[in-house]
Amino acid sequence: MRNWTEDGIAFGADYNPEQWPEQVRCEDLELMREAGVTLVSVGIFSWGLLEPEPGRYDFGWLDRVLDDLHGAGIGVDLATATASPPAWMSQRWPEVLPVDHDGRRHTFGSRQSWCPSSPVYRERSLALVEALATRYGSHPALRLWHISNELGCHNARCYCDVSAAAFREWLQRRYSGVDALNDAWATAFWSQHYTSFDQVQVPALSSSFPNPAHALDFARFSSDELLGQHLAEQAVLRRVTPDVPTTTNFMVSAGQTAMDYGRWAREQDVVSNDHYLVHALGDPRAELAFAADMTRGVAGGPWLLMEHSTSAVNWQPVNVAKAPGEMLRDSLAHVARGADGVMFFQWRASSGGAEQWHSGMVPHAGRDSDRFREVVELGAVLQRLADVRGSDVEADVAVLVDYQNAWALEAPTLPSARVGHLDVAHQVHRLLCERQTTADVVAVGAHPDDLAEVLARYRVVVVPTLYLCDDATAAAVTAAAEAGAQVVVTYLSGTVDERVRVRLGGYPGAFRDLLGVRVEEFHPLLEGVGTALDDGSTGEVWSERATVAADVEVLASYGDGAVAGSPALTRRALPGGGAAWYVGTTLDDEALDGLLQAVCAAGGVAPAAPATGFVDVVRRRDATTGRSWLFALNHGEETATVRVSGVDAVSGADVDGTLHLAPGASAVVAETPRP
Ligand code: GAL
Repeated sequence: MRNWTEDGIAFGADYNPEQWPEQVRCEDLELMREAGVTLVSVGIFSWGLLEPEPGRYDFGWLDRVLDDLHGAGIGVDLATATASPPAWMSQRWPEVLPVDHDGRRHTFGSRQSWCPSSPVYRERSLALVEALATRYGSHPALRLWHISNELGCHNARCYCDVSAAAFREWLQRRYSGVDALNDAWATAFWSQHYTSFDQVQVPALSSSFPNPAHALDFARFSSDELLGQHLAEQAVLRRVTPDVPTTTNFMVSAGQTAMDYGRWAREQDVVSNDHYLVHALGDPRAELAFAADMTRGVAGGPWLLMEHSTSAVNWQPVNVAKAPGEMLRDSLAHVARGADGVMFFQWRASSGGAEQWHSGMVPHAGRDSDRFREVVELGAVLQRLADVRGSDVEADVAVLVDYQNAWALEAPTLPSARVGHLDVAHQVHRLLCERQTTADVVAVGAHPDDLAEVLARYRVVVVPTLYLCDDATAAAVTAAAEAGAQVVVTYLSGTVDERVRVRLGGYPGAFRDLLGVRVEEFHPLLEGVGTALDDGSTGEVWSERATVAADVEVLASYGDGAVAGSPALTRRALPGGGAAWYVGTTLDDEALDGLLQAVCAAGGVAPAAPATGFVDVVRRRDATTGRSWLFALNHGEETATVRVSGVDAVSGADVDGTLHLAPGASAVVAETPRP
């Protein structure tokens, strides 16, 4: 298999030369060399130019682009170009356009306007993939195939008749018969009993609430359907060019949950991810760290940052530009967490089109700009980090997440709409980061057979609001605790099974025995209403009425309201040295930080390095040579200190015992081996 990152940490961007006159390419190549660009993604949205009429291909311009890039020593991540079909497709086959939840068919004129179940789209896209693979499979610039682009970004769920028929076929494969479906979906309720699969519709706009099991299966189907397109393209590529690795860029981030990337990652040669800071979030950099840890989690090792931005994007209400040093810090935050490549959308900022106000490596101002000078500096830093490639990220804590759980929590009929599937996970992860403690974010879907084995590697396992939890997942978590891990389970976890059927007999059904906690009733809290705990801390969002078994230690109880006196925080010690901790509310930061410190101390989890200040510290280590690099990123407004010795690849300075890091600054210290 060809090596996509033979030059160390890959560096580059989406390169869209088709947007510019051909002579601009001379300057592009010169500037790419100056910046140290090693890899570019080409052709992502160029189907319309590559196949101007059905079956008539025009590859001339792409031949020249690839030849020129190769001449400049730059590798290519070549797109299959199927992300956005040309105008002729929907003109001739209007049924290819997707239909939204409210029954509206999309029009042509934006991008990614295709139904994931469309046979016409499938056939035409695979013909293009075959033509590209045949033409460029042996091109010396080709390093990697880029399948489609952000599959499902705009068309994750289609509600058209073609999709409905495909959904019924999917259900027939999942269930042994219509009675099994009736049972799984609890259709005795509201007269939803089916006598034939033909009666089943997609869960589009209806008179009242959807059946949650129906909606969940549709979410599963929709993720599988897009994965099916990915696999079909991949199969063509693997047949024609078996030695070229394939990837497709994921969107592991706060807002995108439609694709089960745990499941998808199992199909990738290279896991790649796109990430953008979302300024509406309380702490966008904490979310970046979470997303990067989750990408590594699904990848099971190093991965490629396929896109992020040099500065502002163009799709938020206010598009905040990056301050000096921020682009370097964000890039290194991804490398710290396992990225072996740093790429951007896009190389040259467009002058026209919907993304004309999106930043690029070469801004509208051109080469003579601070932005381009920072790009050149970043390229130089990454070259000095070449040996980091392939190394592991050290982490003793796992945070368990699951896309199926995210889908189940989309239901509009839950005890509280205030429970986001990642809210507690984000809070836990952020507080750990603030203590320089690295966590792996483990996605259930990535481990259909080996979750217990994976969780057994950690000293601490956190299970935050894992509402939907199947028996195997519950067993893996329980086994980790019994084998000696500190396991922290938070409210609502384990209350329903994979059919979103309530586990009866007291919540949290799947973890009741492990925790020794039996919840009789939920008492979710209204916005602005907190609950005081008797240890002086406060909770929000959730409270509940619970009892505990005799061997459970109550760490704090609700101090007021309808559930006053009921246990809120508990711990049950297990014979193997592990413990099962339970958190029944959203704790304030100070209280949750204190709890996590106690849990980490009990598990023997230490920070990556002792530090002061608001500094993110992560260590990568090469398992073969033992060499290690300590990444330190100061997100705070004061100078931070980190205990480390070695040479800083950013500043070039020797560090002897203590690194002093100015506000906003970044360092990567190649550590002096311990004697
Ligand atoms: C991504 C997409 C890119 C570009 C970028 C802008 O979602 O893959 O093509 O649109 O966003 O931030």
